[in-house]
Amino acid sequence: MSDSAFKKIEKRLAKLATQQEAICARLEALEDRVATPSSASAASPEEVIQLLDGFRAGEALGAASIAAWLEVCSTDCVRGALRTVQQREAMHAALLEDRLRALGAEPTLELPAADAEQAMKDLGSSEHSDAKKLLDFTERIPDAALLLKPIYDMADRLDHDQETQWLLRSIAQDEESTVTLIHRACALLNPQAA
Ligand SMILES: [Fe+2]
Repeated sequence: MSDSAFKKIEKRLAKLATQQEAICARLEALEDRVATPSSASAASPEEVIQLLDGFRAGEALGAASIAAWLEVCSTDCVRGALRTVQQREAMHAALLEDRLRALGAEPTLELPAADAEQAMKDLGSSEHSDAKKLLDFTERIPDAALLLKPIYDMADRLDHDQETQWLLRSIAQDEESTVTLIHRACALLNPQAA
């Protein structure tokens, strides 16, 4: 083999080695991403605390406003459903507060007073019928999946804290049940809207 042909082959081999190194580096990066799919998006402690505290405050208001509705509720089937829903909301608020404290935080978030007052006034009103309140609810929350997306999304980012992850998933499942129940009661009392 001539000297120039030998040099040509040597050059090609060097080029191939460089290309091979680049391919190996890309493969390693891909392997890392497959091995730890959620590590890049794992929720930070601050995000978890913020979500738990906000969710807790919402559930506490839910429990209080449904209790106010129960006091003026005049429909048997709605009362039966609301009793369960109200207890669940209160239980969720307590569970979320417990988890918050277990993670070393205190419940601090307070919902805007105007929002809380409005919720109490709307649901506690004896001027609005149960059918109207159910209709308002279903119009405000037509779809449980949309409402619960932030909760399920956060749970998916909590592989490093499975206790909070499954607490959120189990509460979200209760919420799905509540939304389904309210929609059924609404359809029963508002047949014209169905
Ligand atoms: Fe709730």
